[in-house]
Amino acid sequence: MAKTQNLFKLSPRKACELRGKMLGWYDANARVIPWRAPPGMPAPDPYHVWLSEIMCQQTTVTAVIPYFLKFTARWPRVFDLASAEKEDVMAAWAGLGYYARARNLLACARIIANERDGIFPDTAAELKKLPGIGDYTATAIAAIAFDGHDAVVDGNIERIAARYFEISDPLPRSKPLLKQAAALLFEGSAARTGDFAQSLMDLGAGICTPRSPKCTICPIAKDCAARKSGTPEKLPARIKDKSKPQRHGYVYWIEDGQGNVLLERRPESVMMGGMLGLPGSEWVDLDTAPDRPAFINTVNMPVKERVLHSFTHFDLSLQIMRGEVRINNVPENYFWHVINDFDSRSMPTVFRKAWKLRP
Ligand code: ADE
Repeated sequence: MAKTQNLFKLSPRKACELRGKMLGWYDANARVIPWRAPPGMPAPDPYHVWLSEIMCQQTTVTAVIPYFLKFTARWPRVFDLASAEKEDVMAAWAGLGYYARARNLLACARIIANERDGIFPDTAAELKKLPGIGDYTATAIAAIAFDGHDAVVDGNIERIAARYFEISDPLPRSKPLLKQAAALLFEGSAARTGDFAQSLMDLGAGICTPRSPKCTICPIAKDCAARKSGTPEKLPARIKDKSKPQRHGYVYWIEDGQGNVLLERRPESVMMGGMLGLPGSEWVDLDTAPDRPAFINTVNMPVKERVLHSFTHFDLSLQIMRGEVRINNVPENYFWHVINDFDSRSMPTVFRKAWKLRP
């Protein structure tokens, strides 16, 4: 096995210089984002910082902004969110993905509102005890909302560190090393850690991008080891994953003849648990026939186009079938809804696609 690379360091003087350069660049170039305070200004509302950081997990700022605006218009304070109906929060989250985040969001809001008088803890260690808050999110909230000083390390900041120190060891093996290197970037001083973290986020989003980094306008290019070697876009290296598994299944379009369609509130234990969806079969490997709910009969129908959707760990192909129910009363997590009065945006994207292709 190849030896793990661990020969990188940053003197306190260099780390201070790096922070100074990044903060100077941020003061002039910070993205204007609805949950942010302008550079150097007093910290934003912790409720906004928390909400935005949960939404930004595995999701781009561009995708998050409309959801952030929708949530804060509808639930302006953590108390409002805490007293919302779970179904309303799940529907408002639909389309943003990773739906466990929405369940944890509500659980966390209820703890803050009911047990802490609406006050968020102000340290990463305390924040981490709340539902949905891991290392990255805890340190980001602490730094941005409460002037915490712990290093804030996400995948984008790891990419910057991989290039700055020219760490060529490939992911996933190099993950602990990249985390350690990224934390080193924060060692310079304690000044404005929230702004410093956000300056690195902006650098990762706009300049030190995965495929074509714009080194000519990077404020720290002069000290970047990968830039000197000439191929920063190759870092961080990655051992090729096997291709994603392919699964298949059925989704059923079932009408009652009176303008209603059958919908499902998905059980908590399955993917997208708690969300609304169209009824469906199991999703299984291509060499397996998927089981369908026993109370549904399928009727072949002419929708030729399949629903294709890519999840993080597998690709899915769904055949749309017209169906009918064999019993008078549908099971309790299923219900009829007026077709013309349903907003398909209250379902996750895979079901919105099926809704669009409905017969
Ligand atoms: N990604 C996660 N949090 C962010 C923030 N505060 N600014 C920019 N990008 C982010």
